[in-house]
Amino acid sequence: MTKLQIEDIVSLSKRRGFVFQASEIYGGLSGFYDYGPLGVELVNNIKQLWWEHFVQRQDNVFGVDGATIQHPELWRASGHLSGFSDPMVEDTLNHKRYRADQLAGVDTTDLKELALLLKGKKSPDGNPLSEPRQFNLMMQTWVGSVEDEAAKVYLRPETAGAIFTNFLNVKETMRAKLPFGIAQIGKAFRNEISPRDFIFRVRELEQMELQYFIYPDDQQEAYEQWRQFAWHFLVDILGVNETSLSWHKHSQKERAHYAKAAHDIYFDFPFGAKELWGTHNRSDFDLSSHAKFSNKDLSILDESSGQKTIPYVIESSVGVGRLLLTVLSDAFSRDKVGGEERIVLKLKPSVAPYKIAVSPLLKNKPELVTFARKLYEELKQEFLMVLWDDNGNIGKRYRRQDEIGTPFCITVDFDSLKDRSVTIRDRDTTKQIRVRADNVASTLKPRLH
Ligand code: GLY
Repeated sequence: MTKLQIEDIVSLSKRRGFVFQASEIYGGLSGFYDYGPLGVELVNNIKQLWWEHFVQRQDNVFGVDGATIQHPELWRASGHLSGFSDPMVEDTLNHKRYRADQLAGVDTTDLKELALLLKGKKSPDGNPLSEPRQFNLMMQTWVGSVEDEAAKVYLRPETAGAIFTNFLNVKETMRAKLPFGIAQIGKAFRNEISPRDFIFRVRELEQMELQYFIYPDDQQEAYEQWRQFAWHFLVDILGVNETSLSWHKHSQKERAHYAKAAHDIYFDFPFGAKELWGTHNRSDFDLSSHAKFSNKDLSILDESSGQKTIPYVIESSVGVGRLLLTVLSDAFSRDKVGGEERIVLKLKPSVAPYKIAVSPLLKNKPELVTFARKLYEELKQEFLMVLWDDNGNIGKRYRRQDEIGTPFCITVDFDSLKDRSVTIRDRDTTKQIRVRADNVASTLKPRLH
């Protein structure tokens, strides 16, 4: 099979309504994307599965949904105001900005080293470059009617912030005892200097984050536990092929300012193996710092030692857009059916946007349409995402459903009128079986997980 290119995913996403460029009719806005009708279903399924496995099925993990804009002191305490930056250089004539490390082709954020490497180098447009400098990635805006320093606030760069500021609220309202976790799904914003690779590096992203609060002695065990759980979720729940995943341990240079240890799960994206899911040991960095900046006691009483202690935090953090790109890239397949090439999205039924498509063999035969329509209405009572498809001929319908990953297509034909049987076609094998219309729901139910 020819190697998957990111253009294949971009084109499928647009053609079938998974992902559109934001503000496309105005020429787009770099680093921003919209989910289309199929994208939003796929993404909602992924988020729902994450929430189920990281929150609802856990004994001691609670959810929150914090505001996107928080008190600016939060970002001083978290270190993002001083530490959340990328090295940047500017074309001195047209003022286009570039990541200095990328232009230099190295993996460092050291400004002195970058200045040396870029000395005498020109911008991609052939113009002189500025000296490298740190560029803060947080987006700012103002609250209230006066745009002055006092009113300046930030769009959150990670969802973790509102979890730490609600640590006491959650602990008290839920009577939680260590170890316990707080989880959140929400948007975050980063003014990336060079957004790229479709929805991989964007300026508005959605994160699914768990912060797991523990006694310091349990850090190694909890770190391993959540690292393995992320891998298990990808492979067993989302159905991602294990051979496309790998571990990457962060070197000291790569680690975020808050992390004592970090491991990423990498996925083999069409543009190379890149980070998908991070597990970080954030130590007591966050709660200690928030305690200091807010003057609130965020320690807990360790009942075994009788001592007050600041909990450690193990973080599990993944971007929804990256997971969508992972799931699409992993499921994208090409094969030949009847001598013709087809594209098929081999999505796990639980994440597929539509589960079942129902078609009359011919749309101008009222007896077939009436029969099929009744079956469609019945199946819709049982399964949420059932699609009515009577466009084009049956071959075209199958191709379309294959491309959007619909696991099963049901066709009503002339035999159906005689013996009430219909055809169920399997997306991956293209094999067809005949089943009585009354038994379709019970036949498909166990196959839709
Ligand atoms: N909280 C981890 C991250 O934002 O990447």
